[in-house]
Amino acid sequence: MNGFYWNALRIEFVQGETVALALRRAGVANFGPTPNGGAARYFCGIGQCQGCLVSIDGSAPVESCITPAKADSKVTSGY
Ligand code: FES
Repeated sequence: MNGFYWNALRIEFVQGETVALALRRAGVANFGPTPNGGAARYFCGIGQCQGCLVSIDGSAPVESCITPAKADSKVTSGY
């Protein structure tokens, strides 16, 4: 099965699944701290609320709810 890394945790995913869905299925609800003291999380699921931002392989922040998971990538908080 394909997998990516959320910090040091390996997250398995099905081809075509988004990063946010794979994280939630693995029990990860907190996607990291936000600048206002909150926690990034899955909310709208359509790329509008910006609540689920993550960085993938050091990228600028992307919406994890609309970004397909990529094998062996390293996903971290987007803030
Ligand atoms: S959950 Fe709203 S942009 Fe991803």
